[in-house]
Amino acid sequence: MLTNLEQQPADALLALIKLHNADPRADKIDLGVGVYRTGQGDTPVFGAIKAAEQKLVTLQDSKAYLGPEGDMAFVEALMPYVFGKDAPKLGGRIDGMQTPGGTGSLRLALAMAQRAGAKRIIVGKPSWPNHAQICKDLGLEITEFNHATSEGRADMDAVRSAIKGAQAGDVILLHGCCHNPTGIDYAQGEWDEIAGLLADSPALPLIDLAYQGLGHGIEADAYGVRRVLVAVPEAIVCYSCDKNFGLYRDRVGALYVMMAQPDQLPAVMSNGHALARANWSQPPDHGGAAVRLILEDKALTVQWLDELDQMRERIRQVRAKLSGAGVAGNADLSPLGHQNGLFSIVPLSKDQVLEMRERHGVYMAGSGRINVAGLTMANIEKFIDAVADVTA
Ligand code: LMR
Repeated sequence: MLTNLEQQPADALLALIKLHNADPRADKIDLGVGVYRTGQGDTPVFGAIKAAEQKLVTLQDSKAYLGPEGDMAFVEALMPYVFGKDAPKLGGRIDGMQTPGGTGSLRLALAMAQRAGAKRIIVGKPSWPNHAQICKDLGLEITEFNHATSEGRADMDAVRSAIKGAQAGDVILLHGCCHNPTGIDYAQGEWDEIAGLLADSPALPLIDLAYQGLGHGIEADAYGVRRVLVAVPEAIVCYSCDKNFGLYRDRVGALYVMMAQPDQLPAVMSNGHALARANWSQPPDHGGAAVRLILEDKALTVQWLDELDQMRERIRQVRAKLSGAGVAGNADLSPLGHQNGLFSIVPLSKDQVLEMRERHGVYMAGSGRINVAGLTMANIEKFIDAVADVTA
């Protein structure tokens, strides 16, 4: 039976990890998958996570099952950071559950929306490729709108008409901050307008918040989520701790649902629990427990936020340097300075991306997306020279 299966291509982004590892060149540069790197090119475990893990070893007295919702103390400890300290649970209208990373949260959210009657997902183009892969796997239709203008700003006309054209049965998927892959976010005034449009739309907003703290800080990066949630009756937020706690392979995420009335939540969440049971039964515990221990401890919270500040600061420095280079060959790097988070798109063709890899040992996604954090003061000149070379 299994011979009926056709060979599938490897995930293009994840395949870059292996390609880069296999490259013997000492000066190769990995700008592929989105992991933070220090100025030395490392992706260390956060100090706050290490301390929390030590605590976990000492304090954890059981690894017995918790249930499909995972560690609810973890889910609740994150809520003030996502939804704001002054709006705890928006009057009991928000509930959540733990998921295996942001991908698990998105998978559950989209399956839940589908159970509720969603047929079509409206999403900006380009988006994180896995958004489309999950929708395709679930059999959900996708309609795209243009995310950014050629000047490197958010395309407000496009999102405006996408929301205005949305119908009942549509889900509109927005990136909360640090847009992946463009780094182009909505400004606060733009979020205000989007929230107003969503208030008048029958579409269900689904906000993917996977990089909180890596753009402008924890509070500023939650502006869009919070603004939309006060405007609409129902929304879903998919959260990832994989980047802002550096827990990538531990798969730590959460799904939050906001309903118009608190008494509507149990039925919705019971569907989340049933879907989790049918997919992975229960989320992995370790990373979520470490996050909870950080958020329950003032000193560890300060340490975590400090580490996050340092990451954001380094990303800004790299962006400033790229932007300062101006036009390299034919590629204008200056817009990268005002973009946010780990990713930006360098305007290169597929062939030029391949040349970057083959001639210069620079690994980046086929879309021209780079992980800005893969650049250091030691390799950034080489990268800029390579861009100039392949675009000349
Ligand atoms: C990325 O886009 O590089 C990250 O979100 C990692 C992933 O799972 O794709």
